[in-house]
Amino acid sequence: MNRNSSDIPQKSSALNRREFLAAGAIILAAGIAPPHVLGANDRIRFGLIGSGSRGQQDLRDALKQPNTECVAVADIYSRRRDEAKAIVPGAELYDDPRRLLDRKDIDAVIIATPLHLHAQHLLATIAAGKDTYSEKTLTWSIPEAAECLRAVKGSRQVVQIGLQHESEGELADARQWIKDGLLGKVTLVESWMSRNSPHGKGQWVRSIPADCDPQHVNWPLFLGRRPASAFDAQKYVNWRLFWEFSGGNVTENMVHQIAWIMSALGLAEPVAATMSGGVFSEKDGRQVPDTIAVTLEFANDLVVVWQSTFSNKRFGLGEHILGSDGTIEHVAGATDMVTDKYESFIRYYPEKDNRPDGAEIAGKSRGQDHMANWMTCIRSRNQATNAPIETGYKSAVAAHMANLAYRQHRRITIEEAIAAKPSF
Ligand SMILES: NC(=O)c1ccc[n+]([C@@H]2O[C@H](COP(=O)([O-])OP(=O)(O)OC[C@H]3O[C@@H](n4cnc5c(N)ncnc54)[C@H](O)[C@@H]3O)[C@@H](O)[C@H]2O)c1
Repeated sequence: MNRNSSDIPQKSSALNRREFLAAGAIILAAGIAPPHVLGANDRIRFGLIGSGSRGQQDLRDALKQPNTECVAVADIYSRRRDEAKAIVPGAELYDDPRRLLDRKDIDAVIIATPLHLHAQHLLATIAAGKDTYSEKTLTWSIPEAAECLRAVKGSRQVVQIGLQHESEGELADARQWIKDGLLGKVTLVESWMSRNSPHGKGQWVRSIPADCDPQHVNWPLFLGRRPASAFDAQKYVNWRLFWEFSGGNVTENMVHQIAWIMSALGLAEPVAATMSGGVFSEKDGRQVPDTIAVTLEFANDLVVVWQSTFSNKRFGLGEHILGSDGTIEHVAGATDMVTDKYESFIRYYPEKDNRPDGAEIAGKSRGQDHMANWMTCIRSRNQATNAPIETGYKSAVAAHMANLAYRQHRRITIEEAIAAKPSF
């Protein structure tokens, strides 16, 4: 994948001996644990924090990589620990992630906890000197994202954000076509994401297991830095539906697409955002909207629109990058009208007005396994991951700008968003 066509700041480059020693001195002076440097053939011993639905998937993905071992799993719910045990019988199990992070024999940590805990867990993992794979969205708020950006940039840890579409071959294709000037001036990007569910069953709603109670769930650890409150099984299981723990579909799904668009076009954070919508599909007590229209304004004459519904999935998800000289169509999901089968492709089409002799191009770059890319970077320590902290930061800021605009019922600028006090 060609990373040079992007303006994403590269996190690290090969260090010469003097730079390496200087960096080590800064790290020691700052009290940050230096990473345990692994050789190309050394086993990566990793731990998992949060072995829920996504964490178990990440765990399986990590175990597929050669020469890796999961030695510990931390989760606050005994059922989730039991499920992890079935996947990695030899791993130590903890409820408190602190105990996992205190272990000196762990090189790397995967974090797949609910959104409101990402910053807390990422900061603690970096401070413990461990390389980190942290699920998207980077954080629950913009100030937390800024804190994580600072901490990671001040460390030598190898960090991959769980924005796996950054490792897709389609992104390499889009970047190449844009770099080659095939699009001309891009003024508009349309993007969308859609799902459906049976009547009466809201998207994302999970049933509450019989043993989901304070005896089996460490509720104070789930709350983290949230105010103390009585155990609430609905909030614990269905945290995605509540602002206190979630950013709704903007942080669940828009973030993937906006990161992809920003990487393809080499964009910095938006300069302003608006967002409208509401809880329209299923009025099931959720706070976060299911129907959403976001407009993100970028510098240099560009608007990105993202729409989402949970009441119709005909067009799956995708992006259209619209330029004066050409168009990129990138779609995935149930896009085939006849068979409803899952389809994914990227294509370039010339605009006949400005490229009359141009030809259509089908994307064909091979993608990388996102987890494998993290492991490769852990071993080499001289290249940026495909979704470095900067991508996590930019995409998180864009997502939170949209939510702030929705919740304040107005257009919000980047300056206002950065100055806003997070609330739920
Ligand atoms: N990259 C992707 O495509 C993708 C897909 C799905 C989910 N995700 C992300 O993964 C994260 C987890 O989502 P999920 O669906 O697996 O949620 P989940 O509720 O199924 O899992 C979260 C797990 O974290 C545990 N947990 C909560 N507080 C904890 C704490 N203080 N210490 C340790 N464990 C704790 C819970 O017990 C639970 O097992 C979210 O941020 C979500 O956005 C990413």
